[in-house]
Amino acid sequence: MKSTETSKSSAMKKNGAARKSTGDSSLSHEQLNELFIDGLKDIYWAEKALTKALPKMIKKATSEELAEALTAHLAETEGQVTRLEEVFTSIDEKAVAKKCEAMAGLIKEAEEIMGECEDGGMLDAGIISAGQKVEHYEMATYGTLRAFAEILGHEKAAGLLQESLDEEKAADEKLTEVTSSAITLMTAQEEKR
Ligand SMILES: [Fe+2]
Repeated sequence: MKSTETSKSSAMKKNGAARKSTGDSSLSHEQLNELFIDGLKDIYWAEKALTKALPKMIKKATSEELAEALTAHLAETEGQVTRLEEVFTSIDEKAVAKKCEAMAGLIKEAEEIMGECEDGGMLDAGIISAGQKVEHYEMATYGTLRAFAEILGHEKAAGLLQESLDEEKAADEKLTEVTSSAITLMTAQEEKR
């Protein structure tokens, strides 16, 4: 199995060095493959980081429904890490994680929100808002990577990435449901007063 770090060709810009546009928008198989592998390393890091961040969110959640939804998604996230390892294997690449700055930022923001919100409904709403931002980032990433895999002819990888995409969509919908039921409950309590 070849190492992804050493096999990297010079097509990717190194250290942000400026490259002048040639006006040619064609994309080679090799270039797309590099973007694909780079994206996989990125989401691999992100999923691993989430397996550490989610338990903190579960601990802080007040609503049982929210804690359950996050707990179920933690188990799914652990499965997604393993699934990504299968994706790497399916394309004969070593599973390597590369820091995802976007996910690091989203997790940092979630921690800030949790530190700023008052316990109870406000904290739950804050956790949901942070969680949905994470889900949408993951949906965008898996959608793009699945499309790249299809173009590159990596059928097995495309199927696996679609499975994770479906799980992220379901997790996002579940968080929306938790929000709606919490708001309905709050409105009912307000009306009783
Ligand atoms: Fe995920």
